[in-house]
Amino acid sequence: MDNERIVIKGGNRLDGSVSVHGAKNAVLPLLAAAILTKDDVAVENCPYISDVDAMVCLLSELGANVAREDRRICVSGGVTRTHARESLCKTMRSSMFMLGALISATGEVELPLPGGCDIGARPLDIHLDGLRKMGAVADIEGNVVRCSAARLRGADIVMRYPSVGATENLMMCASLAEGDTTLVNCAREPEIVALACGLRAMGAKIYGDGTSVMRIEGVQRLHGARMSAGGDRIAAGTVVAAAALCGGDVAIYGVNAGELHTVLQAFRSRYCDIDASDVCVRVRSQGRISARSVITAPYPLFPTDMQPQFVACQCFSDGACTVRETVFENRFGYAEELKRMGASISVGKNVAAVAGDPSAMKGTAVAAQDLRGGAGLCLAAMKAEGESVVYNPRYIDRGYESFEKLFASLGANIRRISD
Ligand code: EPZ
Repeated sequence: MDNERIVIKGGNRLDGSVSVHGAKNAVLPLLAAAILTKDDVAVENCPYISDVDAMVCLLSELGANVAREDRRICVSGGVTRTHARESLCKTMRSSMFMLGALISATGEVELPLPGGCDIGARPLDIHLDGLRKMGAVADIEGNVVRCSAARLRGADIVMRYPSVGATENLMMCASLAEGDTTLVNCAREPEIVALACGLRAMGAKIYGDGTSVMRIEGVQRLHGARMSAGGDRIAAGTVVAAAALCGGDVAIYGVNAGELHTVLQAFRSRYCDIDASDVCVRVRSQGRISARSVITAPYPLFPTDMQPQFVACQCFSDGACTVRETVFENRFGYAEELKRMGASISVGKNVAAVAGDPSAMKGTAVAAQDLRGGAGLCLAAMKAEGESVVYNPRYIDRGYESFEKLFASLGANIRRISD
Protein backbone atom coordinates (compact mmCIF):
# COMPACT_ATOMS: atom_id res chain seq x y z
CA MET A 1 0.00 0.00 0.00
CA ASP A 2 3.03 2.28 0.31
CA ASN A 3 2.90 2.99 -3.38
CA GLU A 4 -0.74 4.10 -3.13
CA ARG A 5 -1.28 7.42 -4.81
CA ILE A 6 -3.95 9.72 -6.18
CA VAL A 7 -3.67 10.61 -9.86
CA ILE A 8 -5.30 13.86 -10.96
CA LYS A 9 -5.63 15.50 -14.35
CA GLY A 10 -6.32 19.21 -13.92
CA GLY A 11 -8.79 21.48 -15.70
CA ASN A 12 -12.23 19.98 -15.16
CA ARG A 13 -15.15 22.06 -13.88
CA LEU A 14 -17.05 20.72 -10.88
CA ASP A 15 -20.85 20.38 -11.08
CA GLY A 16 -23.43 18.59 -8.97
CA SER A 17 -24.23 18.09 -5.29
CA VAL A 18 -22.58 16.31 -2.36
CA SER A 19 -23.42 15.63 1.28
CA VAL A 20 -20.50 15.94 3.68
CA HIS A 21 -19.71 13.23 6.20
CA GLY A 22 -19.96 13.68 9.96
CA ALA A 23 -17.45 16.00 11.62
CA LYS A 24 -14.21 14.19 12.47
CA ASN A 25 -13.34 16.65 15.22
CA ALA A 26 -16.76 16.25 16.86
CA VAL A 27 -17.01 12.46 16.61
CA LEU A 28 -13.60 11.81 18.20
CA PRO A 29 -14.31 13.57 21.53
CA LEU A 30 -17.87 12.15 21.58
CA LEU A 31 -16.40 8.64 21.32
CA ALA A 32 -14.00 9.46 24.15
CA ALA A 33 -16.87 10.77 26.30
CA ALA A 34 -18.70 7.47 25.84
CA ILE A 35 -16.44 5.77 28.40
CA LEU A 36 -17.69 8.15 31.13
CA THR A 37 -20.52 5.67 31.70
CA LYS A 38 -20.83 1.89 31.58
CA ASP A 39 -24.26 2.30 29.97
CA ASP A 40 -24.82 2.02 26.22
CA VAL A 41 -23.80 5.11 24.25
CA ALA A 42 -24.49 5.47 20.52
CA VAL A 43 -22.63 8.06 18.43
CA GLU A 44 -24.37 8.71 15.09
CA ASN A 45 -23.06 10.12 11.81
CA CYS A 46 -19.54 8.73 12.30
CA PRO A 47 -17.46 9.10 9.11
CA TYR A 48 -15.45 6.29 7.50
CA ILE A 49 -12.02 7.81 8.13
CA SER A 50 -8.88 6.33 9.62
CA ASP A 51 -8.80 8.57 12.71
CA VAL A 52 -12.21 7.17 13.72
CA ASP A 53 -11.04 3.62 12.99
CA ALA A 54 -8.03 4.25 15.24
CA MET A 55 -10.24 5.63 18.01
CA VAL A 56 -12.42 2.49 17.83
CA CYS A 57 -9.26 0.37 18.19
CA LEU A 58 -8.11 2.47 21.14
CA LEU A 59 -11.44 2.17 22.97
CA SER A 60 -11.41 -1.61 22.42
CA GLU A 61 -7.80 -1.79 23.60
CA LEU A 62 -8.88 -0.04 26.82
CA GLY A 63 -11.53 -2.73 27.35
CA ALA A 64 -14.70 -1.00 26.17
CA ASN A 65 -17.29 -2.91 24.12
CA VAL A 66 -17.32 -1.15 20.75
CA ALA A 67 -19.45 -2.05 17.73
CA ARG A 68 -19.84 -0.20 14.44
CA GLU A 69 -23.15 -0.43 12.58
CA ASP A 70 -22.73 1.65 9.42
CA ARG A 71 -22.41 5.26 10.65
CA ARG A 72 -23.41 4.46 14.21
CA ILE A 73 -20.76 3.43 16.73
CA CYS A 74 -22.00 1.89 19.98
CA VAL A 75 -19.81 1.94 23.08
CA SER A 76 -20.69 0.25 26.38
CA GLY A 77 -19.19 -1.17 29.52
CA GLY A 78 -16.69 1.60 30.12
CA VAL A 79 -12.97 0.75 30.22
CA THR A 80 -11.06 -1.87 32.19
CA ARG A 81 -7.54 -0.74 31.38
CA THR A 82 -5.87 2.63 31.77
CA HIS A 83 -3.16 2.52 29.19
CA ALA A 84 -2.81 1.65 25.54
CA ARG A 85 -0.15 0.33 23.19
CA GLU A 86 2.40 2.97 22.22
CA SER A 87 2.24 1.88 18.58
CA LEU A 88 -1.48 2.62 18.44
CA CYS A 89 -1.27 6.03 20.08
CA LYS A 90 1.62 7.02 17.84
CA THR A 91 -0.59 6.71 14.78
CA MET A 92 -3.18 9.17 15.97
CA ARG A 93 -3.28 12.56 17.56
CA SER A 94 -6.75 11.99 18.87
CA SER A 95 -5.53 9.66 21.64
CA MET A 96 -5.09 12.90 23.61
CA PHE A 97 -8.89 13.15 23.80
CA MET A 98 -8.78 10.08 26.02
CA LEU A 99 -6.82 11.98 28.69
CA GLY A 100 -9.82 13.65 30.30
CA ALA A 101 -12.20 10.75 29.80
CA LEU A 102 -9.79 8.18 31.22
CA ILE A 103 -8.85 10.09 34.38
CA SER A 104 -12.48 10.98 34.92
CA ALA A 105 -13.66 7.39 34.44
CA THR A 106 -10.85 5.53 36.23
CA GLY A 107 -8.80 8.05 38.24
CA GLU A 108 -5.74 6.80 36.38
CA VAL A 109 -4.19 7.56 32.97
CA GLU A 110 -1.06 6.29 31.28
CA LEU A 111 -1.08 7.38 27.64
CA PRO A 112 1.86 7.36 25.22
CA LEU A 113 2.29 10.79 23.68
CA PRO A 114 0.81 10.91 20.16
CA GLY A 115 2.98 10.69 17.09
CA GLY A 116 5.04 13.66 15.97
CA CYS A 117 2.89 16.07 14.07
CA ASP A 118 4.00 17.92 10.99
CA ILE A 119 2.17 21.08 11.88
CA GLY A 120 3.62 21.88 15.26
CA ALA A 121 5.00 20.66 18.60
CA ARG A 122 1.49 20.16 20.04
CA PRO A 123 2.43 20.58 23.76
CA LEU A 124 -0.01 19.59 26.52
CA ASP A 125 0.70 22.26 29.15
CA ILE A 126 -2.85 23.68 29.06
CA HIS A 127 -4.34 20.20 29.47
CA LEU A 128 -2.04 19.34 32.42
CA ASP A 129 -2.44 22.75 34.07
CA GLY A 130 -6.21 22.31 34.14
CA LEU A 131 -5.98 18.72 35.43
CA ARG A 132 -3.65 19.83 38.24
CA LYS A 133 -6.04 22.62 39.22
CA MET A 134 -8.71 19.92 39.52
CA GLY A 135 -6.51 17.96 41.91
CA ALA A 136 -4.81 15.50 39.59
CA VAL A 137 -1.13 14.61 39.70
CA ALA A 138 -0.22 14.98 36.04
CA ASP A 139 3.19 14.69 34.39
CA ILE A 140 4.93 13.74 31.19
CA GLU A 141 7.58 11.09 31.89
CA GLY A 142 9.58 10.34 28.77
CA ASN A 143 6.98 9.97 26.07
CA VAL A 144 4.16 8.92 28.37
CA VAL A 145 1.53 11.13 30.01
CA ARG A 146 0.76 9.89 33.49
CA CYS A 147 -2.14 11.33 35.54
CA SER A 148 -3.87 10.15 38.70
CA ALA A 149 -6.61 11.51 40.97
CA ALA A 150 -8.85 9.85 43.55
CA ARG A 151 -11.69 12.16 42.55
CA LEU A 152 -11.35 15.37 40.62
CA ARG A 153 -12.74 18.49 42.20
CA GLY A 154 -14.25 21.50 40.46
CA ALA A 155 -11.94 24.49 39.92
CA ASP A 156 -11.76 27.92 38.35
CA ILE A 157 -9.48 27.48 35.33
CA VAL A 158 -8.26 30.31 33.15
CA MET A 159 -6.79 28.87 29.93
CA ARG A 160 -3.84 30.79 28.54
CA TYR A 161 -5.02 29.88 25.03
CA PRO A 162 -8.41 28.56 23.86
CA SER A 163 -7.08 25.07 23.11
CA VAL A 164 -9.79 22.87 21.54
CA GLY A 165 -8.45 19.60 22.90
CA ALA A 166 -7.72 20.97 26.36
CA THR A 167 -11.23 22.45 26.54
CA GLU A 168 -12.71 19.08 25.59
CA ASN A 169 -10.59 17.16 28.07
CA LEU A 170 -11.45 19.55 30.90
CA MET A 171 -15.17 19.42 30.02
CA MET A 172 -15.07 15.65 30.42
CA CYS A 173 -13.18 15.95 33.73
CA ALA A 174 -15.46 18.64 35.12
CA SER A 175 -18.65 16.73 34.26
CA LEU A 176 -17.93 14.13 36.95
CA ALA A 177 -15.85 16.27 39.32
CA GLU A 178 -16.95 17.14 42.85
CA GLY A 179 -18.24 20.72 42.72
CA ASP A 180 -18.39 23.33 40.01
CA THR A 181 -15.83 24.22 37.36
CA THR A 182 -15.47 27.42 35.37
CA LEU A 183 -13.41 27.38 32.18
CA VAL A 184 -12.38 30.90 31.20
CA ASN A 185 -11.00 31.62 27.70
CA CYS A 186 -12.12 28.16 26.59
CA ALA A 187 -12.48 27.17 22.93
CA ARG A 188 -15.73 28.12 21.15
CA GLU A 189 -15.55 25.80 18.12
CA PRO A 190 -18.75 24.04 16.98
CA GLU A 191 -17.11 20.79 18.07
CA ILE A 192 -17.12 22.11 21.65
CA VAL A 193 -20.87 22.68 21.43
CA ALA A 194 -21.32 19.19 19.93
CA LEU A 195 -19.45 17.65 22.86
CA ALA A 196 -21.45 19.70 25.38
CA CYS A 197 -24.70 18.51 23.76
CA GLY A 198 -23.49 14.92 23.95
CA LEU A 199 -22.44 15.24 27.59
CA ARG A 200 -25.77 16.91 28.47
CA ALA A 201 -27.57 13.97 26.83
CA MET A 202 -25.59 11.80 29.26
CA GLY A 203 -26.76 13.94 32.21
CA ALA A 204 -23.97 16.50 32.51
CA LYS A 205 -24.74 20.04 33.62
CA ILE A 206 -22.85 22.32 31.21
CA TYR A 207 -23.62 25.96 30.53
CA GLY A 208 -22.05 28.57 28.24
CA ASP A 209 -20.62 26.16 25.63
CA GLY A 210 -19.84 28.10 22.46
CA THR A 211 -18.79 31.14 24.48
CA SER A 212 -15.47 31.95 26.13
CA VAL A 213 -16.70 31.11 29.63
CA MET A 214 -18.17 27.69 30.37
CA ARG A 215 -19.61 26.61 33.73
CA ILE A 216 -19.94 22.93 34.58
CA GLU A 217 -21.63 21.52 37.70
CA GLY A 218 -20.14 18.12 38.56
CA VAL A 219 -22.60 15.23 38.89
CA GLN A 220 -22.25 11.84 40.54
CA ARG A 221 -22.65 9.76 37.41
CA LEU A 222 -23.48 9.96 33.72
CA HIS A 223 -25.88 7.62 31.89
CA GLY A 224 -26.16 6.20 28.40
CA ALA A 225 -27.32 8.36 25.51
CA ARG A 226 -27.64 8.65 21.76
CA MET A 227 -25.62 11.54 20.34
CA SER A 228 -24.66 12.79 16.91
CA ALA A 229 -22.12 14.91 15.12
CA GLY A 230 -23.13 17.49 12.54
CA GLY A 231 -21.54 17.75 9.10
CA ASP A 232 -17.80 18.26 8.86
CA ARG A 233 -17.30 21.99 8.33
CA ILE A 234 -13.71 21.54 7.10
CA ALA A 235 -14.65 18.85 4.59
CA ALA A 236 -17.43 21.18 3.38
CA GLY A 237 -15.00 24.12 3.25
CA THR A 238 -12.64 21.98 1.17
CA VAL A 239 -15.43 21.37 -1.38
CA VAL A 240 -16.20 25.12 -1.42
CA ALA A 241 -12.53 25.82 -2.16
CA ALA A 242 -12.42 23.22 -4.93
CA ALA A 243 -15.57 24.59 -6.59
CA ALA A 244 -14.32 28.19 -6.37
CA LEU A 245 -10.99 27.14 -7.88
CA CYS A 246 -12.14 24.76 -10.62
CA GLY A 247 -15.29 26.61 -11.61
CA GLY A 248 -18.77 25.18 -11.87
CA ASP A 249 -22.00 24.92 -9.88
CA VAL A 250 -21.80 22.82 -6.73
CA ALA A 251 -24.33 22.36 -3.90
CA ILE A 252 -23.09 21.08 -0.54
CA TYR A 253 -25.59 19.53 1.88
CA GLY A 254 -25.34 18.38 5.47
CA VAL A 255 -23.34 21.25 6.89
CA ASN A 256 -24.34 24.24 9.05
CA ALA A 257 -23.37 27.19 6.85
CA GLY A 258 -23.09 29.43 9.89
CA GLU A 259 -20.04 27.41 10.97
CA LEU A 260 -18.38 28.32 7.67
CA HIS A 261 -19.08 32.07 7.64
CA THR A 262 -15.45 33.26 7.44
CA VAL A 263 -14.57 30.58 4.89
CA LEU A 264 -17.47 31.55 2.59
CA GLN A 265 -16.48 35.21 2.93
CA ALA A 266 -12.90 34.35 1.97
CA PHE A 267 -13.97 32.66 -1.28
CA ARG A 268 -16.77 35.03 -2.38
CA SER A 269 -15.58 37.33 -5.19
CA ARG A 270 -16.59 38.86 -8.50
CA TYR A 271 -15.83 35.43 -9.97
CA CYS A 272 -17.62 33.36 -7.33
CA ASP A 273 -21.15 33.57 -5.87
CA ILE A 274 -21.83 31.59 -2.73
CA ASP A 275 -25.40 31.27 -1.38
CA ALA A 276 -25.89 29.76 2.06
CA SER A 277 -29.18 28.48 3.48
CA ASP A 278 -29.94 26.30 6.50
CA VAL A 279 -29.60 23.15 4.43
CA CYS A 280 -27.26 23.96 1.59
CA VAL A 281 -24.22 25.93 0.52
CA ARG A 282 -24.24 26.60 -3.23
CA VAL A 283 -21.08 27.71 -5.06
CA ARG A 284 -21.27 29.09 -8.61
CA SER A 285 -17.84 29.99 -9.87
CA GLN A 286 -16.14 31.07 -13.10
CA GLY A 287 -13.07 29.18 -12.00
CA ARG A 288 -10.98 32.25 -11.22
CA ILE A 289 -9.66 33.28 -7.77
CA SER A 290 -9.42 36.82 -6.41
CA ALA A 291 -6.23 37.66 -4.52
CA ARG A 292 -7.13 37.91 -0.83
CA SER A 293 -5.19 37.80 2.45
CA VAL A 294 -6.38 35.94 5.55
CA ILE A 295 -5.23 35.38 9.11
CA THR A 296 -6.09 32.10 10.83
CA ALA A 297 -7.35 32.20 14.40
CA PRO A 298 -9.61 30.28 16.81
CA TYR A 299 -13.32 30.05 15.98
CA PRO A 300 -15.27 32.01 14.79
CA LEU A 301 -12.41 33.47 12.74
CA PHE A 302 -10.79 31.84 9.71
CA PRO A 303 -10.01 28.21 10.64
CA THR A 304 -6.43 26.96 10.57
CA ASP A 305 -7.72 23.68 9.10
CA MET A 306 -8.67 25.57 5.92
CA GLN A 307 -5.34 27.39 5.62
CA PRO A 308 -3.57 24.95 3.24
CA GLN A 309 -6.62 24.68 0.97
CA PHE A 310 -6.86 28.50 0.85
CA VAL A 311 -3.17 28.95 0.00
CA ALA A 312 -3.45 26.31 -2.76
CA CYS A 313 -6.25 28.34 -4.33
CA GLN A 314 -4.35 31.62 -3.99
CA CYS A 315 -1.56 30.15 -6.15
CA PHE A 316 -4.03 30.59 -9.05
CA SER A 317 -5.22 34.08 -8.08
CA ASP A 318 -5.11 37.31 -10.07
CA GLY A 319 -2.68 39.00 -7.67
CA ALA A 320 -0.64 38.68 -4.48
CA CYS A 321 -1.70 37.92 -0.91
CA THR A 322 -0.35 36.98 2.52
CA VAL A 323 -1.68 34.20 4.74
CA ARG A 324 -0.75 34.42 8.42
CA GLU A 325 -1.00 31.26 10.54
CA THR A 326 -1.48 32.13 14.22
CA VAL A 327 -2.65 28.74 15.58
CA PHE A 328 0.16 26.29 14.71
CA GLU A 329 3.82 27.18 14.42
CA ASN A 330 4.71 24.99 11.46
CA ARG A 331 1.77 24.62 9.14
CA PHE A 332 3.25 25.63 5.77
CA GLY A 333 5.19 22.41 5.09
CA TYR A 334 3.04 21.66 2.03
CA ALA A 335 4.18 24.96 0.38
CA GLU A 336 7.40 23.29 -0.85
CA GLU A 337 5.25 20.79 -2.76
CA LEU A 338 3.13 23.58 -4.27
CA LYS A 339 6.36 25.26 -5.39
CA ARG A 340 7.25 22.06 -7.26
CA MET A 341 4.02 22.68 -9.22
CA GLY A 342 5.21 26.19 -10.08
CA ALA A 343 3.74 28.23 -7.23
CA SER A 344 5.42 31.46 -6.12
CA ILE A 345 5.26 31.23 -2.32
CA SER A 346 7.73 32.62 0.17
CA VAL A 347 7.28 31.34 3.72
CA GLY A 348 8.43 33.47 6.66
CA LYS A 349 7.75 33.08 10.36
CA ASN A 350 4.10 31.95 10.44
CA VAL A 351 3.29 33.83 7.25
CA ALA A 352 3.23 32.88 3.55
CA ALA A 353 3.36 35.45 0.74
CA VAL A 354 1.73 34.10 -2.44
CA ALA A 355 2.03 35.62 -5.92
CA GLY A 356 -0.82 34.11 -7.94
CA ASP A 357 -0.06 32.98 -11.49
CA PRO A 358 -2.46 30.38 -12.95
CA SER A 359 -0.32 29.79 -16.05
CA ALA A 360 2.70 28.87 -13.92
CA MET A 361 0.93 25.95 -12.20
CA LYS A 362 1.68 22.59 -13.83
CA GLY A 363 0.84 19.07 -12.75
CA THR A 364 3.70 17.06 -11.24
CA ALA A 365 4.45 14.45 -8.56
CA VAL A 366 3.95 15.75 -5.00
CA ALA A 367 3.76 14.14 -1.56
CA ALA A 368 1.24 14.82 1.19
CA GLN A 369 2.83 15.29 4.63
CA ASP A 370 -0.28 16.00 6.70
CA LEU A 371 -4.04 15.87 6.41
CA ARG A 372 -5.03 19.35 5.26
CA GLY A 373 -1.79 20.02 3.39
CA GLY A 374 -2.51 16.88 1.37
CA ALA A 375 -6.01 18.14 0.61
CA GLY A 376 -4.52 21.44 -0.56
CA LEU A 377 -2.17 19.65 -2.95
CA CYS A 378 -5.11 17.76 -4.46
CA LEU A 379 -7.04 21.00 -4.98
CA ALA A 380 -4.08 22.58 -6.79
CA ALA A 381 -3.72 19.43 -8.93
CA MET A 382 -7.41 19.60 -9.91
CA LYS A 383 -6.77 23.06 -11.42
CA ALA A 384 -3.17 22.85 -12.67
CA GLU A 385 -2.51 22.06 -16.33
CA GLY A 386 -1.49 18.44 -16.85
CA GLU A 387 -1.33 15.36 -14.65
CA SER A 388 -0.31 15.23 -10.99
CA VAL A 389 0.42 12.29 -8.71
CA VAL A 390 -0.20 12.87 -4.98
CA TYR A 391 1.68 10.36 -2.81
CA ASN A 392 0.90 9.45 0.81
CA PRO A 393 -2.90 9.68 0.48
CA ARG A 394 -3.09 7.95 3.87
CA TYR A 395 -2.73 11.39 5.44
CA ILE A 396 -5.79 12.60 3.53
CA ASP A 397 -7.72 9.47 4.54
CA ARG A 398 -7.40 10.54 8.18
CA GLY A 399 -10.00 13.26 7.65
CA TYR A 400 -11.84 12.69 4.37
CA GLU A 401 -14.05 9.78 3.36
CA SER A 402 -12.89 8.62 -0.13
CA PHE A 403 -11.52 12.00 -1.09
CA GLU A 404 -11.12 10.96 -4.74
CA LYS A 405 -14.67 9.56 -5.01
CA LEU A 406 -16.11 12.74 -3.54
CA PHE A 407 -14.51 14.93 -6.20
CA ALA A 408 -14.86 12.42 -9.05
CA SER A 409 -18.63 12.52 -8.37
CA LEU A 410 -18.48 16.24 -9.15
CA GLY A 411 -16.56 15.75 -12.40
CA ALA A 412 -12.91 15.95 -11.37
CA ASN A 413 -10.50 13.69 -13.25
CA ILE A 414 -9.17 11.99 -10.10
CA ARG A 415 -8.52 8.35 -9.20
CA ARG A 416 -6.59 6.33 -6.64
CA ILE A 417 -4.17 3.63 -7.74
CA SER A 418 -2.04 1.23 -5.75
CA ASP A 419 0.17 -1.49 -7.16
C1 EPZ B 1 -7.86 20.40 17.31
O1 EPZ B 1 -6.52 20.06 17.60
C2 EPZ B 1 -8.18 19.75 15.98
N1 EPZ B 1 -8.03 18.29 16.09
C3 EPZ B 1 -7.24 20.28 14.91
O2 EPZ B 1 -7.63 19.69 13.67
C4 EPZ B 1 -7.40 21.79 14.80
O3 EPZ B 1 -6.49 22.28 13.86
C5 EPZ B 1 -7.15 22.42 16.18
O4 EPZ B 1 -8.02 21.83 17.17
C6 EPZ B 1 -7.38 23.92 16.18
O5 EPZ B 1 -8.69 24.19 15.76
C7 EPZ B 1 -9.03 17.57 16.62
O6 EPZ B 1 -10.03 18.10 17.07
C8 EPZ B 1 -8.85 16.08 16.61
P1 EPZ B 1 -5.42 23.05 20.01
P2 EPZ B 1 -5.90 20.40 19.07
O7 EPZ B 1 -5.19 22.38 21.31
O8 EPZ B 1 -6.94 20.25 20.09
C9 EPZ B 1 -1.26 24.92 21.25
C10 EPZ B 1 -7.36 18.57 11.67
O9 EPZ B 1 -6.84 18.93 10.63
N2 EPZ B 1 -1.43 24.21 22.54
O10 EPZ B 1 -6.57 24.01 19.87
O11 EPZ B 1 -4.64 19.64 19.20
C11 EPZ B 1 -1.06 23.94 20.10
O12 EPZ B 1 0.29 23.54 20.02
C12 EPZ B 1 -6.69 18.85 13.00
O13 EPZ B 1 -8.50 18.04 11.74
C13 EPZ B 1 -0.48 24.43 23.55
O14 EPZ B 1 0.47 25.20 23.38
O15 EPZ B 1 -5.57 21.95 18.86
C14 EPZ B 1 -1.48 24.77 18.91
O16 EPZ B 1 -0.41 25.59 18.51
C15 EPZ B 1 -5.32 19.44 12.81
N3 EPZ B 1 -0.62 23.76 24.73
C16 EPZ B 1 -2.62 25.63 19.48
O17 EPZ B 1 -2.47 25.60 20.89
C17 EPZ B 1 -1.65 22.89 24.94
O18 EPZ B 1 -1.73 22.31 26.04
C18 EPZ B 1 -4.00 25.09 19.13
O19 EPZ B 1 -4.04 23.75 19.56
C19 EPZ B 1 -2.60 22.67 23.91
C20 EPZ B 1 -2.46 23.35 22.71
